[in-house]
Amino acid sequence: MPQKQKSKYNSNEHKNGSKKKNNDERKEGKQISKSVVSPVSKEKIKEFATLRGMKDILPREGKLFQQIYHAAEDIADAYGFSYIETPIVEQASLFIRSVGKGTDIVNKEMYLFEDNDSSKVCLRPEGTASVARAYTNHGMHTLPQPVKTWYWGPMFRHDRPQAGRYREFHQFSCESIGEHSPVVDAELISVAYNVLRDLGISTMVHVNSIGTPVDRENYLVELSGYLKSKRSYLSEESKKRMLKNPLRVLDSKEEQDASVIAEAPQIIDWLSDESKKFFMTVLEYLDEAKIPYVLTPTLVRGLDYYTDTVFELYEEGIDEQSQNALGGGGRYDGLVEQLGGQPTPGAGFSLGIERVVGVVQRKQEEERKKLRAEGKESEISDPEKTGGIFFAQLGEQARKRSLFLIEDLRRNGITVYHNLAKSSLKTQLELANKKGVSHTLILGQKEMQDGTVLVRNMESGIQEIIDQRKLKHMVEKLRNTP
Ligand code: HAM
Repeated sequence: MPQKQKSKYNSNEHKNGSKKKNNDERKEGKQISKSVVSPVSKEKIKEFATLRGMKDILPREGKLFQQIYHAAEDIADAYGFSYIETPIVEQASLFIRSVGKGTDIVNKEMYLFEDNDSSKVCLRPEGTASVARAYTNHGMHTLPQPVKTWYWGPMFRHDRPQAGRYREFHQFSCESIGEHSPVVDAELISVAYNVLRDLGISTMVHVNSIGTPVDRENYLVELSGYLKSKRSYLSEESKKRMLKNPLRVLDSKEEQDASVIAEAPQIIDWLSDESKKFFMTVLEYLDEAKIPYVLTPTLVRGLDYYTDTVFELYEEGIDEQSQNALGGGGRYDGLVEQLGGQPTPGAGFSLGIERVVGVVQRKQEEERKKLRAEGKESEISDPEKTGGIFFAQLGEQARKRSLFLIEDLRRNGITVYHNLAKSSLKTQLELANKKGVSHTLILGQKEMQDGTVLVRNMESGIQEIIDQRKLKHMVEKLRNTP
């Protein structure tokens, strides 16, 4: 039987009461700037700061990134998508050809470089063109169609940084190449919607059809004529867009443009019968799957390769005009051929991970505030709380034994935090508190002699002595106790 003990290792300051201080200190950067950094090194830190619009993903946020990655991976796997990875650096012409010369992404936002051999390369601004290139390069048309792939990774756009808009950001994407069928579009929308739903984000899908290139050409004649007649009412940006890419005027968020856009001819009225039927069938699938959507006639997307169905995903109940899309996608039946392959249909979507992380963090904060207001502080889950245990050691002999015991526990599926480089118990218990573990195992000289370990409850400070041979069993029991 484990004995309860008031230990020689007792120290009240390590109870969870000291956690608040630790939590405050954990706020990124505070410790560095206040206590460690001299004026000289502050200058150095400035010199080596991240580039504008790019950021480090620190451990606290990193946990959320991982959670989202796993949620996305699980769903993509369940829907039969296989993982694909394409290079981050590609020939610039790949995106100029596919995303389009008249688009903001190619015109203003590409990270363009001259490679050592003077060829023009760029950091990828998106992944769809790369996957379409890979499909052709590797003869994937010989595989059973459609070829369904998913990927996750950084994208680069030299945009003006603002909330939810970075120069380096991450996307989770699915592409389905080789099948022209409304069910493919509905399946992709369903995957994107359900990833967000699984993360607790109530989502609204905005959907439209922009028809075939021929439909669009006819429509563009009509739209250009209309915009010219309203030129004097348009914002300066839209006046420029009107000449380069009139469709993009419909995307404008400028208040000044709102009434002109609302009155503009709608592309849906210019669709061929085939495109109309295709789109109606996509909507029927969405109805059947109970996926909430709104028809958005002004949704045209900012990339040239789209045909027929286009869609974007927004957090429900938030003013869509004022916020950024969490994701978007659509059909691109001409893309593979444009890149030198056989005529091959395709469709896909991407979610913007930083934006999804932002929503999840905001929701977690709202939940914490609500619990605090209701006096239910104890129900607030600490995102840093790891579920593992901490292993502290005292003395050379104990340190030598530690590695064996830690590895033994790890092999049994238990996460064991530790820092064997530290010899002070106080420091080790502080680390344990920072990790938010419920228990710390302490191995000192006496325990080494007796073949025991102290198990310290971090909340109450109470410690129990247990036999080292019963350690696994004991920790397993702790793990299963809520
Ligand atoms: P996109 O709409 O350009 O589409 O980007 C998809 C998502 O990436 C956006 O909805 C947004 O959440 C996120 N995103 C875009 N730009 C930024 C930025 N500067 N900062 C942070 N997040 C951003 C595509 O990229 C297409 N490749 C989607 C697709 C896949 N279409 C077919 N297959």
